[in-house]
Amino acid sequence: MAYKILLREDLVPKIHLFKLAAPDVARKAQAGQFVVIRIDEKGERIPLTIADWDRKEGSVTIVFMEVGTTTNRLAQLKAGDSVTDFVGPLGVPTHIEKFGTVVCVGGGFAVATIMPIARAMKEAGNKVISIMGSRNRSLIFWENELRRVSDQLIVTTDDGSYGRKALVTEPLKEALETNKKPDRVIAIGPSIMMKFCAETTRPFGVKTIVSLNPIMVDGTGMCGCCRISVGGVTRFACVDGPDFDGHQVDWDLLFTRQRMYLDEEKISFAQWQSRHSVPS
Ligand code: FAD
Ligand code: FES
Ligand code: MG
Repeated sequence: MAYKILLREDLVPKIHLFKLAAPDVARKAQAGQFVVIRIDEKGERIPLTIADWDRKEGSVTIVFMEVGTTTNRLAQLKAGDSVTDFVGPLGVPTHIEKFGTVVCVGGGFAVATIMPIARAMKEAGNKVISIMGSRNRSLIFWENELRRVSDQLIVTTDDGSYGRKALVTEPLKEALETNKKPDRVIAIGPSIMMKFCAETTRPFGVKTIVSLNPIMVDGTGMCGCCRISVGGVTRFACVDGPDFDGHQVDWDLLFTRQRMYLDEEKISFAQWQSRHSVPS
């Protein structure tokens, strides 16, 4: 079965949104889940978070950043094209309940990942404080969308070209230092950002959920590729997660495993670039 791209939007340079026709996935999708996508018969399988869905239309939205061969191949597709596999929804949905005050932190492309979670937290009756961080102004997207589902939104950039010049951990620390400290923090973005968010909240004892992104292949607990360690116990991020308690994650093991195929990925991308005359 082929999954048709209904809509393509280029959000910012190298970050794209695709809305695909995938009624079975749309019917069951919940915040925090992901799909495994394969462009064609020979393509590799890559996991991407479900950024949005429309059960009536039978569509699912993904937002992805071009980082290597497969995401660059994906970025070549346009509305009307199809992908061969779009398996999901996979993973355990994010735990949503009325906690009180929830801080949602999204870094880089993961602003799209945090969106459905912030929305669900708001719908559950929480006060939602969202913090979105980017390297610079040109990479900011979905600011208004995130503002709509938040009681408060803080935008940071590393270089100060927009919003506040800060890392996301600065406003996070300030939120923790207020009289009424948050009841829960959810931080999603680059692994190093998630680690530092967890380190920021640790002394305050506020439970902090992170969405881990080890390399995944099948996404259904069969291959062991996404093996990580949480609280000293081996877990498979695809079926036990991807959400975990950030204070319990063995970050060094995650970083090591994420870099396992760096040489092969570089060779693959260089070959792809030379075939497509893409500047490096
Ligand atoms: P490559 O050059 O092959 O890899 C670049 C880096 O991406 C690698 O060093 C590795 O750390 C990581 N990576 C490579 N292959 C995989 C793989 N099979 N599984 C996981 N990571 C891999 N990215 C987005 O842009 N948007 C998302 O919504 C998103 N959601 C994700 C949800 C989950 C649960 C996980 C685990 C990852 C998610 N990612 C997301 C990351 C995305 O899967 C990788 O960027 C993508 O696989 C890179 O493929 P590539 O061939 O373009 O790059
Ligand atoms: Fe294969 Fe998780 S991706 S076990
Ligand atoms: Mg790849």
